[in-house]
Amino acid sequence: MVDVAAALEAGGLTNPNVREYVEYWAGITGASRVEVVGAADDARLIAEALEAGELDPAGEGLYYSRSYSKDTARSEERTIVATNRESDKGVYNNWRPAAEMKPLLVERMTGASEGKTMYVVPYLMSPLGAPLEKYAAGIELTDSRTVVLHMIRMARVGAKFINELAEPDHFVRAVHVTGDLENLGQGTDDDQRYFVTVADERTILHFGSSYGGNALLGKIAHGLRQSAYDGWASGEFLSEQFMLIGITDKQTGKRYHICGGFPSASGKTNLAMMLPPDALCERYQVDFYGDDIAWLWVGDDGKLYGMNPEFGVFGVAKDTNEVTNPTALASVAPGTGSIFTNIAYNTDTHEVWWEGRTPAPPADVTGWVDWKGTPIAERDEAEKDAPWAHPNSRFTTTLANVPNVAEDFEDPKGVPIDGIIFGGRTRDREPLIRAINDLAEGVYDGLTLGAEATAAADGKEGVLRYDPMSMRPFMSYGEGDYAAHWLKILGQVKDQPIFAHVNWFQRSQEDGHFLWPGYRENLRPLLWLMALKNGEVEGVQTPSGIIPKESELNLDGLEIPQADLDKVLSIDLPRWREEMGHREKHLKGFEGLPEEIWEAHKRVAKAFDES
Ligand code: GDP
Ligand code: PGA
Ligand code: MN
Ligand code: MN
Repeated sequence: MVDVAAALEAGGLTNPNVREYVEYWAGITGASRVEVVGAADDARLIAEALEAGELDPAGEGLYYSRSYSKDTARSEERTIVATNRESDKGVYNNWRPAAEMKPLLVERMTGASEGKTMYVVPYLMSPLGAPLEKYAAGIELTDSRTVVLHMIRMARVGAKFINELAEPDHFVRAVHVTGDLENLGQGTDDDQRYFVTVADERTILHFGSSYGGNALLGKIAHGLRQSAYDGWASGEFLSEQFMLIGITDKQTGKRYHICGGFPSASGKTNLAMMLPPDALCERYQVDFYGDDIAWLWVGDDGKLYGMNPEFGVFGVAKDTNEVTNPTALASVAPGTGSIFTNIAYNTDTHEVWWEGRTPAPPADVTGWVDWKGTPIAERDEAEKDAPWAHPNSRFTTTLANVPNVAEDFEDPKGVPIDGIIFGGRTRDREPLIRAINDLAEGVYDGLTLGAEATAAADGKEGVLRYDPMSMRPFMSYGEGDYAAHWLKILGQVKDQPIFAHVNWFQRSQEDGHFLWPGYRENLRPLLWLMALKNGEVEGVQTPSGIIPKESELNLDGLEIPQADLDKVLSIDLPRWREEMGHREKHLKGFEGLPEEIWEAHKRVAKAFDES
């Protein structure tokens, strides 16, 4: 048995409530050593990981990691929210009784860290001093050094975040055990993995993965699932899979903040890192606050505030290049300490590559290995056309490395929210942007977000499905209660943000090309939205919201075929009428959906009937 008390003392973790927790799990997992880590240990841990072959060098201060080939994305099927109340069961949260799941996890984890170090990672999902700080503290126990290195980039990590808690026992207990990855039956009927959030006990138990979304417990399990539950249970806040940006009009001096949800791998990080299009650079500036999670609450002044609980970016590599996202490339430049996962790697030159980094892969394949480690030169016939990088390959870097990070990104008071947008990959029907002024209709719009599934989750790329507010994989309680909580929080806000639904992914029915050029050009519809909120433009009222007149959209310097522009600025009435029937069925699945949401649905349906 390891001497936990000595390890905590050596690591400066003095909060008296920690010891029992760590001793309990060290006993179960059978870890051989216990070590408290903080951000100050990064250089040493990097050196150890390089030495152990867990990381490879990828240029000055850059690192390359590879996860097991069947462990490359979040698993939605194996993710469970367990509580002690059956009334927490929803359509998407895979609810199970806490009493059933905890013993199962104990069984899986028993002896599973034998011979390994159990790292004790004290973290805070919030800037210090934020109004919601009391929901932000946690301790992740993990048997993976690579997970620790990612946590140090993605969260504020150090003993002080736990030692100085106002309520010393109020921290999330998050246990991660990797397991024997080659023998877990991933994706089969005999799948051994379990990713469980015991939400009403603020305990997270994840077994059977070392991939980011399953293993960085501060980020998704705590930062989204647990905190969504905490926000609802306390009645104090919302926790959403939202990006958060500031837009400054340098000509008028006006500044806006927009947050919004898009399913994983649907454009949040790119939007948050967006440089304005060349023609608009002089007048506008976009500031990065967050790219994946926002916590929202009502301030004392009655405004809605938002903040990013994270400390870093875990971004999709695919298609990131000088044209689509120069900001992202700069944030992973030499010297940034960034870690790449599951991209292609050159074992001689230590260069990295992913699909879309350059139009074609390196012509000379000498030294290049794909994301599985297979030399490109030795790939067999079946592998020849497979991508070099995994479609869900990622880069991990800290917010401070992002060139357009807002000056006040660590300011605990958060930023006032002017707009809330929803969007996803939708190949038809959804126009470029449609604005919604009514609160219930805005919440209704979020609840009926429909989009194509992506490679960020195991299994079902391309399938069209509903993904309420982009929270489908992170829902921790019933959807009816979730809708009511939204109405309650937003109902307290004096200066209501405007809602909008956006779509950068409409495609040509003939050849499949994207009708809207996307990326930096996405600033244009957002500027229109703020102009609409200010009463500077009026748009065209449609049954599902207000869409821009072409003349109202700033198109300076944009080259786009007229037919494509016409299409993204129109409402496809027959497709929408069909959609209304699907929505009705979708919403009927939600128990206890507030009457206001049904009324919103009926108003929109009636408007389509009459149009
Ligand atoms: P996130 O997972 O929601 O943060 O999405 P990302 O911003 O990482 O983008 C996911 C994928 O979508 C990447 O491959 C991007 O290159 C691509 N993407 C992002 N924004 C756009 C856009 O406006 N248009 C198109 N066509 N692709 C985009
Ligand atoms: P993403 O973040 O939304 O940027 O893909 C990671 C995730 O949600 O798994
Ligand atoms: Mn996400
Ligand atoms: Mn992202």
